[in-house]
Amino acid sequence: MSFAKASSRRDFLKSGALAGIGAAVLPVGRTLGEIRSSSVMPKAGPIAISSRNGQRSVLKAIEMIQSGADALDAVIAGVNIVEEDPKDMSVGYGGLPNEAGAVQLDSCVMHGPSCRAGGVAALEGIKTPSKVAKLVLDRSDHVLLVGLGAQRFAQMHGFKIEDLLTDRARERWVEWKEGLSNRDDYLPPHSMEDKDIGENIEDLERHWGTIHCSAIDLAGNISGVTTTSGLAFKIPGRVGDSPIIGAGCYVDNEVGAAGSTGRGEANLENLCSFLIVERMRMGDSPEQACLYACERIASHTKLARLLDDEDRPNFTVSFYALNKAGEVGGAQIWGGRGQFAVADANGGRLVEMAYLYARTTMR
Ligand code: GLY
Repeated sequence: MSFAKASSRRDFLKSGALAGIGAAVLPVGRTLGEIRSSSVMPKAGPIAISSRNGQRSVLKAIEMIQSGADALDAVIAGVNIVEEDPKDMSVGYGGLPNEAGAVQLDSCVMHGPSCRAGGVAALEGIKTPSKVAKLVLDRSDHVLLVGLGAQRFAQMHGFKIEDLLTDRARERWVEWKEGLSNRDDYLPPHSMEDKDIGENIEDLERHWGTIHCSAIDLAGNISGVTTTSGLAFKIPGRVGDSPIIGAGCYVDNEVGAAGSTGRGEANLENLCSFLIVERMRMGDSPEQACLYACERIASHTKLARLLDDEDRPNFTVSFYALNKAGEVGGAQIWGGRGQFAVADANGGRLVEMAYLYARTTMR
C-alpha cells in the first residue's frame, strides 16, 4: 500500500482525495479566509490518522487492522516505526535530549473498548515508550509511571536499556548549549572577530515534535497513542502533554479519538484531547472540535510573553481527531501549510489542516 503524494492543495484536489470535503468551519470572530477545511466524508473503519510524520504509521496500522489486529496494537506498531527511526529527532530513539543531554520520552495509549489507559513520562533508555505505556495498561493497576520507576517496570518485563542519544541529536544539543548565552562558559565555533557569541540561539529550532496516531479497527473499535521526546532541551524532568490522558490523547469508543502535537504546556492547561472528544459527543465534526480546542487555547493564553502584537498565541498546537463514523479532521492554531496523514483500505493520503491564524512570521 502506498501513500498518495499531496504536496500542494492543487495536487491534492486533482488526486480526488478531497472529494466530499465538508463545509469550512468558521469559529466565532474569524474570517472565512483564515480557515481551510480538512473534513473527509464519513466511512467507518478501518481508518487511521496521524500527525504528518506518521505517514508510515497509518499505513502500518491499516495493514495490521486488515489482518484482524485490534486498533491499539495497530497504532502502537505504527508509531514504533517512527520511535525506532534515528532520523526522526522528535520521537523515541534519536529524539533531541533535555538540557542535560539525556533523552527523556513521554507516551500514552488509550484503548476504546475497555476504556483503559496507560502512560509513561520522562522515561530514559527505551526506544519505544508507547510499548511501555501499553505495558502499564496491561500489567499494572496504574495509569501513569514516570522516570526510573517506569524504566524499572519496563526492565522487569524484559525491555533492554539502550543509549538513545544519536550523534546527530548530541551535536544539535551541543550546538544549542554553546549558543545559549554569551554570558556562560560554553562557546560555539567562532573566529577572533566575533563579538556577540551566543546570539544565534534564536535561530535554532527548539521544537515540540511528537507523533499521534489513532484508528478504528474492523470491529469498529477506536484506540489512540501519542509519543514524543518532548520539548527539545527541556529542563530535566519536564513532562509535556503527550503522556497525559485527556491532554495528549483521549478516546471514547462511542464517540471518537483525539490527539495533539505542539506546545504541551498550553495543552496541559486546557486538556484539549478530552475537550475535542466531548465536543464531538455534542455534535461537532472532528474538524470543528479541533478548531474549538485551538480557540480555547487562544482565549486562555493571557501571559504577554506568550502573545504576539495582536494578542494571539505566539506558539502553535495541532490537533487530530476521528469520530465513530470514520470522519477525520485536524486543526492548528497557526497554519496554512499543515497536513495530517490518513490511511484506509484504499491507501494513504495527506489532508490539509484547518487553522485559526495564517502562519506568517510566527516562530
Ligand atoms: N507536545 C509535546 C510536548 O510538549 O512535549
